[in-house]
Amino acid sequence: MSEEAEKPVEYNLEADSELRFELEAKGEKVFVELKSGFAELFGTELVKGKAYEFTTGAKVAIFTYHGCVLEVKGKTDVLYVAKETPMVQYINCHAALEQMREIAEEKNVQGPIVMVVGPMDVGKTTLCRIFLNYAVRVGRRPMFVDLDIGQGCISIPGTIGAILVERPASLEEGFSQQAPLVYHLGHKSPSSNDALYRIIISKMAEVTLEALQANKKTKASGMIINTCGWVKGGGYRHLLHAAQAFEVGAIFVLDQERLYNELLRDIPAFVKVVLLPKSGGVVERSGASRAEARDIRIKEYFYGHRSPLYPHSFDVKWSDLKIYKIGAPALPDSCMPLGMKAEDNMTKLVAVQPGPNLLHHILAVSFAESIEDDVIQTNVAGFICVTHVDCDRQTITVLSPQPRPLPNVILLLSELQFMDTH
Ligand SMILES: Nc1ncnc2c1ncn2[C@@H]1O[C@H](COP(=O)(O)OP(=O)(O)OP(=O)(O)O)[C@@H](O)[C@H]1O
Ligand SMILES: [Mg+2]
Repeated sequence: MSEEAEKPVEYNLEADSELRFELEAKGEKVFVELKSGFAELFGTELVKGKAYEFTTGAKVAIFTYHGCVLEVKGKTDVLYVAKETPMVQYINCHAALEQMREIAEEKNVQGPIVMVVGPMDVGKTTLCRIFLNYAVRVGRRPMFVDLDIGQGCISIPGTIGAILVERPASLEEGFSQQAPLVYHLGHKSPSSNDALYRIIISKMAEVTLEALQANKKTKASGMIINTCGWVKGGGYRHLLHAAQAFEVGAIFVLDQERLYNELLRDIPAFVKVVLLPKSGGVVERSGASRAEARDIRIKEYFYGHRSPLYPHSFDVKWSDLKIYKIGAPALPDSCMPLGMKAEDNMTKLVAVQPGPNLLHHILAVSFAESIEDDVIQTNVAGFICVTHVDCDRQTITVLSPQPRPLPNVILLLSELQFMDTH
């Protein structure tokens, strides 16, 4: 249906309610405008009189603490007003964090370092966004660390990242991602290389905790850490390890009492563990839509979202590159040299011979200058994608956010692939 054919509809929201909608059909667009009152989207305030555009895939809740009138133009798949939301509990948690920040500021000590955990599809990422937005809205400058490998919102999938948050997230594009700190895992799930995931979490904790000290404002603002929805077995052990590595002061557990009780049992008593309800609005995502979300993130990395980016494409000689993957095929412990465990193999650099095997793969450009550096614990500058392999000329064609030359020649192969159909 064309936009013109859609009549705008006004919704009058009472205090503490939210308008939820989803857009599934391809090519659909919806415009929302705040006519009066105050409203926010996952913690970012809407500007009155501005038409915000939402496109396919959007799953949105516009909440109001005081009541508002919203005008919606366009066709949505689902749209309703919900009066039951956990927003008051969430803002109370923010208020508690804010008190901790005030004390930290006075005493010039570190502010709250908190982690958000829970099973899949409970609104972890959304809650982090709300906490971060509320913090910057009162003048803080918190650090955001995303440990979610598959559905993280910093950089691209297959990595963990950290950014300093100085402005509320843009409604359409999320938080601004200037100079993120990124470590490469190279897989969609931590379980593909637990040993490496553990190491990069420790490294990320070490570097971000130190960076926090560099600036008084950031130090008092603290850190919000997002995690992935794998909360059983190995996933749970990663959560415990992250809590310890980042020396978290509080853990917000969304939705799952079992996880909450396990953490109460296993986490030292000085760490506050708080159980919070999930919002009824959080939408479950299928495996297929998660895969699609990963593709979209990679596409946006190269091509941008609302504000377009123009990536470069150029050829690089095989002989100019040093490509590695991390982790050799597992051998039983009995086959390992004396004193080495099979796990050690998973953190080894293995040289990769360029060839058709690289086609469509993402390569992380390491900051490491030589392989004598600790490559796996070195952050990455960015990513390129192999769009063509020429075996005769022994070159690869790459898609790169920056023009040639590549800033570095040590490249780490990722399991993730991207089909450049632009
Ligand atoms: N109150 C709400 N109303 C409508 N949609 C919502 C609401 N809260 C969150 N969503 C949407 O639900 C989806 C899932 O939320 P979110 O990504 O925060 O969950 P998650 O627990 O981080 O998931 P994952 O396990 O994939 O990391 C998102 O698309 C988000 O925009
Ligand atoms: Mg998430």
